[in-house]
Amino acid sequence: MCGIVGYVGVKQAAPILLEGLAKLEYRGYDSAGIAVRDAGNEHVEVVKAKGRLKNLMEMTDSGKAVRGTCGIGHTRWATHGEPSAVNAHPHYSREKRVVVVHNGIIENYQEIKAALQRKGYAFATQTDTEAAALLLDSYYSEAGRSGMAPRERALSAIRDMMIRVRGSYALGILFGDQPGVMYAARKDSPLIVGRCDGELAGHMIASDVPAVLSYTRNVVYIDNLEIACLTQEEMHLYNIDCEEIEKPVVEIRWDAAAAEKEGYEHFMMKEIHEQPRAVRDTLSPRIREEDGAKRVDLSETNLTDEDFAAISRIRLIGCGSAYHVGMAARYVIEQLARVPCDVDLASEFRYRSPILEERELVVIISQSGETADSLAALRLCKESGIRTLAVVNVVSSSIAREADAVMYTWAGPEISVATTKAYSTQLAALYLLAVKLAVVRGQIDEAREQELIEQMLELPDKIERVLSDKERVQWFANKMASCKDVFFIGRGLDYAISLEGSLKLKEISYIHSEAYAAGELKHGTISLIEDGVLVVGVATQPELFEKVVSNMVEVRSRGAYLFGLTTYGQYAIEDTVNFTVYVPRTDALFATSLAVVPLQLLAYYISCAKGLDVDKPRNLAKSVTVE
Ligand code: AGP
Repeated sequence: MCGIVGYVGVKQAAPILLEGLAKLEYRGYDSAGIAVRDAGNEHVEVVKAKGRLKNLMEMTDSGKAVRGTCGIGHTRWATHGEPSAVNAHPHYSREKRVVVVHNGIIENYQEIKAALQRKGYAFATQTDTEAAALLLDSYYSEAGRSGMAPRERALSAIRDMMIRVRGSYALGILFGDQPGVMYAARKDSPLIVGRCDGELAGHMIASDVPAVLSYTRNVVYIDNLEIACLTQEEMHLYNIDCEEIEKPVVEIRWDAAAAEKEGYEHFMMKEIHEQPRAVRDTLSPRIREEDGAKRVDLSETNLTDEDFAAISRIRLIGCGSAYHVGMAARYVIEQLARVPCDVDLASEFRYRSPILEERELVVIISQSGETADSLAALRLCKESGIRTLAVVNVVSSSIAREADAVMYTWAGPEISVATTKAYSTQLAALYLLAVKLAVVRGQIDEAREQELIEQMLELPDKIERVLSDKERVQWFANKMASCKDVFFIGRGLDYAISLEGSLKLKEISYIHSEAYAAGELKHGTISLIEDGVLVVGVATQPELFEKVVSNMVEVRSRGAYLFGLTTYGQYAIEDTVNFTVYVPRTDALFATSLAVVPLQLLAYYISCAKGLDVDKPRNLAKSVTVE
């Protein structure tokens, strides 16, 4: 994610901003910038640089070359517009009348940009943030004509902007004609205000606690649709009706290392909990309202409805968990769109002289966008003249740049080696592709389309509900931490879910595990089942529930200890298993998004119980850029 910081007080702002941004580097970024102004002059100095923060430090002599006691800063994780100095924040309007840093996504920025261009505004960047900055400028200049006092004028402009935009934001804002005053506003993206005392007297804003800890432990958590107006001496907070509100000042007791994980012990647990937001950020911008109905909008793929209708085959290619996403998505695509769908391990695909069809669409799935085998598979397809689409998390990564089109998963940086939120957002992206294909190919009617879209949009809240039950999984994991062999079994989508659950367990707990199509057990594997062997039975698919449960009975009768994973209502499973975790009901095709979460938690808690390095498991790298 992006990171924002701000300071207004007695000290020079630039060094404080740069140090605060350095504390947010863990969030991942590709460019950075600061805007600083001195109370004494109208001029706001903006310095931006692509790449690492050190480039900005060198350009500003570690901040000493930029004078001023009020400023805002930003580290950018590109979502709209490639990484570059131009696209780096801060973004500003003419004469820097309004200067903005932003963490989040403005979903309706194109329509806002078009409206502002019709009003004569010129845009210098490809970013969604610039649209917010110029929209603010437009409202601020309108408010100026009504003779409002400066603060009232600023609050009015910010409120109008918040009402107009859709999406998520934590904003730091300077108004050129209000020296010594910093504003901030929030919706969905985290934002705190720090109160600095003593020799640092003043106020800070930041995306996250680590950025302020060197200066203060006294913070205020800004909630949705709230606005802050800060000076050296004063902090004023407002609701969206511009009514002043009071909020408690909280003393932070974390140390800096813990704060980067927002209080979680490991990045993996933090990222597991980011899944609702990440899935929402990946789905929402691609679902638009049209004549009272919701439609999937994949215009970013540059594929027309005719292109989608003409596709002869979908081929999903990836490695590891990305491959498992493909295994799950195949069921969804084939059942909804009735188009043949193959799934390939990239490392196998590139060496098996694949037979490619002229009208097939190859989808390369990759969190890092740098996996060597997946990149090689992409190049092989492009050499054959096959159309390629990347589903990637890292903006402007190699796979993203070399594919014919890209659908970004807006999960934000994923630090833990074991993928969780990227997996979930890749699934969400492929659900959208499946529904789009089904609609343009006439395979589903309007009612089914609307039902599927509603079910997708409910997934984030349902993932939250699964997470609220995590202590039950923790209890079971602590009992099972000494297991030597674990089997995951399921049928259909539940087999795909089993593959991911098994990999999660193997890679961070070092316990041998296998995922098996439940119907295959009697063809060999069941000989391995003996007293005490843990079997995780995944049974989220109503049509296959009875069959999977009968497979569970088979292994239970041979001594297995059974963990049953199913949906609320399927209580008959308790006649067979030793322990059950239920997930909320959803359309059976989207069950993976919910059922994978308890399996992520199971692996996490077992790894913790064994005292292992959850975020950096042995022998593994976050991105496998070599064969
Ligand atoms: C999953 O937890 C692993 N980290 C690994 O299997 C990973 O999914 C695989 O290496 C693919 O990486 P990519 O998504 O960055 O291409």
